[in-house]
Amino acid sequence: MSSGQWAVSGETMLVIKTPGEMQGWAQEQRRAGLRVGLVPTMGYLHAGHLSLVAEARRRCDAVAVSIFVNPVQFGPNEDFEKYPRDEARDLELCRGAGVAAVFLPAPAAMYAPDASVFVVEERLERGLCGARRPGHFRGVCTVVAKLFNLALPDVAVFGQKDFQQAAIICRMVRDLNFPVEVVVAPILREPDGLAMSSRNVYLSGDERQRALGLSRALAGAAEAVAAGPSPADAVRLRMAEVLERHALRVDYAEVVSAETLEPVAQASRGDVALVAAYCGKTRLIDNRVL
Ligand code: PAF
Repeated sequence: MSSGQWAVSGETMLVIKTPGEMQGWAQEQRRAGLRVGLVPTMGYLHAGHLSLVAEARRRCDAVAVSIFVNPVQFGPNEDFEKYPRDEARDLELCRGAGVAAVFLPAPAAMYAPDASVFVVEERLERGLCGARRPGHFRGVCTVVAKLFNLALPDVAVFGQKDFQQAAIICRMVRDLNFPVEVVVAPILREPDGLAMSSRNVYLSGDERQRALGLSRALAGAAEAVAAGPSPADAVRLRMAEVLERHALRVDYAEVVSAETLEPVAQASRGDVALVAAYCGKTRLIDNRVL
């Protein structure tokens, strides 16, 4: 993109479809001395995403949101095809939230058919979702690295809801020297405690009620360590029991160190409790720093 082609962030929100145009916009903002913020998303935006945009706007002059359901981070039996999409609504929400540019690429624009370079994090991804979803974080790291190269953000905001993802992205930024400040924003919850997620739309009325088992299991874990360190296996069991009582199929109920993501023997304040469970066919995750 030649210099001067892009308006510097103003009232009108740009919708950008190609990687080249995205880089052009970002370069233009930076040349104008503006701080660029990026909120990477897979769309079907909800209030949780908008809280990430608000955080980015507090820290930056021009905020871009990427909306891309990244095929590379889905396993063969996962929900890539049926992942909820609503482009028009997402664009309206972004406009209302003061987003300067939305990056909305087609999969073919993001990955060459013979793409052969991927980004792999090798340690933090060993447990939790990484162990259950082989290749998932390779897909996440690859697309986030690409988005960083395209949107050239000073700041990128991710949600704590995907705790392991946020930790892995921080590690990628550190180890590959991306000049990006990663901000991890708190989980936004429905009034009854359910963590906001685009996948909540899959839940039937009954499942929506049962899904409360995740935040309740985490509340139990927090209670268990409130008075002091507690054997982590007992906390894991207690969380699994709460999930099962809500007729959820446990994928994992873990307590790990916030730094290494390795299971701890004693659960203490500052450790992280994480749960993943199937509610019907929908896999939900949630976590809580104890
Ligand atoms: O958390 C998500 O929505 C996705 O994993 C991300 C970070 C946008 C990468 O596709």
